[in-house]
Amino acid sequence: MKKRVFSGARPTARQHIGNYLGAIQNYVALQEEYECVYCVVDIHALTSMEDTRPLQEYNREIVLDWLAAGMDTERTIIFIQSHVPEVMELHTLLSMVTPLSWLMRVPTFKEKVKQQPENVNYGLVGYPVLQAADITLYKADVVPIGEDQLPHLELTREIVRRFNNQFGETLIEPVAKLTSFPRIVGLDGSDKMGKTSGNAIELAATPEETEVRIMTAVTDPARRYRNDPGHPEVCNIYSLHGYFSESQIADIFRQCRAAEIGCVDCKKLLAEHINSSLRALREKRSELAARPEYITEVLTDGAQRARIIARETLHQVKQNMRLI
Ligand code: AMP
Ligand code: TRP
Repeated sequence: MKKRVFSGARPTARQHIGNYLGAIQNYVALQEEYECVYCVVDIHALTSMEDTRPLQEYNREIVLDWLAAGMDTERTIIFIQSHVPEVMELHTLLSMVTPLSWLMRVPTFKEKVKQQPENVNYGLVGYPVLQAADITLYKADVVPIGEDQLPHLELTREIVRRFNNQFGETLIEPVAKLTSFPRIVGLDGSDKMGKTSGNAIELAATPEETEVRIMTAVTDPARRYRNDPGHPEVCNIYSLHGYFSESQIADIFRQCRAAEIGCVDCKKLLAEHINSSLRALREKRSELAARPEYITEVLTDGAQRARIIARETLHQVKQNMRLI
């Protein structure tokens, strides 16, 4: 039997090139070897989204990004988390084997407390437990994620070990799968390209928007004048060239160091390369966006297929916990 892959993304915005390089490329590649299950995690989004009006739209936007990037609905299950409510039941059961001290230490929790001090809700503390429920409900062996998600995956593994220890071998301890670009920095120089902070380039951006965004990005702060030699190793534009301009990367490094190329030209080149690399994806995305009924079909079918696996796992879990 094929091994299984599971991953998810929060529908709080469209997917950006950080998601693409850090995770989506693996989502697509892993389809060759694994049975893949990909989920738009709307319940997770609720932990930081007070105005839920855009939720339905974002659910679909993410599915468009994924399909355009090459997810294949024949082989792969794509669904919306809340359409398979069994995950919430498993979340409650897993919460009984998760010490609160583990959750209080999670770096993303601490960050959220800083980011939204007025909304430190109960769901936020349990976020990694819900993520563990996602992964284990589908008995995933491999979880493609960006680097920021590693602490969550480690916690899933600890929860699985504890559960299996207490109730017998039931759940699978998954492993993480990173790409060669596991953390794309933000255009504003922040640690991570993210959706809400507006420092990202959406996959769905037009070529013009892409260029404008790149032009506003911060570069090497020590390079103030055109003739100053640059430090590509600390420049986020250079790191993006690493993927989008792979064949020219040695030249770009040298030209920047020798001040032969200025930041403006270097950015223009990057915008051009991003746009040519994403051209086919963007075309496919617009075609799919014109067929909303098709997206509904994909999601209905995905939820049905996911639910079959979910029910079976939940049944085993409840049996082993002596609930049934
Ligand atoms: P999100 O859209 O934030 O729910 O994230 C979906 C996936 O993309 C997760 O596996 C993240 O780890 C990954 N991801 C998000 N932002 C980045 C980034 N800036 N660099 C690399 N991977 C990322
Ligand atoms: N926490 C992940 C993120 O913010 C999203 C997510 C939820 C996820 N459940 C998951 C990722 C299960 C991988 C596996 O990006």
